[in-house]
Amino acid sequence: MKYLAVLGRLPKLSLAELESLYDNVEPHGHELATFECANEPELKRLGGSLKLAEELPEGFNYLIDSLAELPDGKITLGVSDFRRGASPHKAQGEALKLKKILQRRGRSVRVLENKTAVLSTATSHHNQLAEKKNHVEIIMTDFGNYNLIGVQNISEYAKRDQARPARDAKVGMLPPKLAQILINLCGPLDDGSRVLDPFCGTGVVLQEAFLMGYLPYGTDLSERMVDYTKRNLDWIGCKDYKAECGDAMNYSWGEEINAVAAEAFLGQPMSQPPADTKLKQEKMRCKDILIGFLKNLYSQIDSGTPVVVAVPAWLRPSGEYSRLNLLDEAENLGYNVKKFINLGQKDLLYFREGQVVAREIIVLRKK
Ligand SMILES: C[S@@+](CC[C@H](N)C(=O)[O-])C[C@H]1O[C@@H](n2cnc3c(N)ncnc32)[C@H](O)[C@@H]1O
Repeated sequence: MKYLAVLGRLPKLSLAELESLYDNVEPHGHELATFECANEPELKRLGGSLKLAEELPEGFNYLIDSLAELPDGKITLGVSDFRRGASPHKAQGEALKLKKILQRRGRSVRVLENKTAVLSTATSHHNQLAEKKNHVEIIMTDFGNYNLIGVQNISEYAKRDQARPARDAKVGMLPPKLAQILINLCGPLDDGSRVLDPFCGTGVVLQEAFLMGYLPYGTDLSERMVDYTKRNLDWIGCKDYKAECGDAMNYSWGEEINAVAAEAFLGQPMSQPPADTKLKQEKMRCKDILIGFLKNLYSQIDSGTPVVVAVPAWLRPSGEYSRLNLLDEAENLGYNVKKFINLGQKDLLYFREGQVVAREIIVLRKK
């Protein structure tokens, strides 16, 4: 089946996530991508996409028929128009045309107002356009029409992020969406796979791994962080996990590891770009830990095991980010660096506007 994704704020990162999981991923401008997948994809597992929709290969006829045949009840209809020359007025016009057709079939229809040509994620979410059978959103593009099957659950993400009992601003707040992206960049994993985060901090990656059906295994240098991870995993209802204190540069993980997903040590939190000498020190410190970790991990995982790590990159006064440039060393240590079709390593950067310490994602697999 062919599906459409509405890409998130960092579209290249969203594309990387889709490429890691699905076939024939094809970007269409900066906002959309199509892909193929045998089973219906679940939006709640994707950190990088805002909406998912399935292709309507026979135009609107099949959709109209199935809506007309639903048991009684009002139909709620919205249109998002991504076509060239789209406007709120045109999108609204398309919605009203569909309303008329459905009314002729005896259905009563509420059309959502198009304040914009594309309905916002919040509008689609609050109107449950992907959840209820009689609530629909049609997504129109220059390459076909699609029917919404999933929309990002903004309130669920906020709850997972903010209601956790153990939080620590100093270790940075990894957004759950980015944690999902890190896990998905490992590629498809079997249910029950053991996901190791050797820099687990407060456990955001492990929390998301559990919700995706994997077994969390966390270690961290700091006993306090291990305790935070345990409290957060208990809070989310995870019963089968391991969390231990250990230095990623020499720890022996006593379990079979199927995938590694982590946000590594990011150095000192900063609110201003560092001076050159400070930057050099920070880079050396972070690089030593990461290289030490990759060396230590190598003999403890099987060939083909994915290792996805978010590492720091620092904002320079020029506005560019200065990176750790770890990839050659990772290759020399026995890891392959993943090559993407629609993006390059420079695109694997996660940051908010003006953020000094950004995260660069490196996607490796043991040779
Ligand atoms: C950026 S934080 C990770 C935060 C985490 N993603 C979370 O959900 O809170 C990095 C973590 O690495 C830990 N750390 C630093 N050096 C380490 C080492 N050598 N081995 C293991 N953990 C280390 C720190 O204690 C910190 O918790």
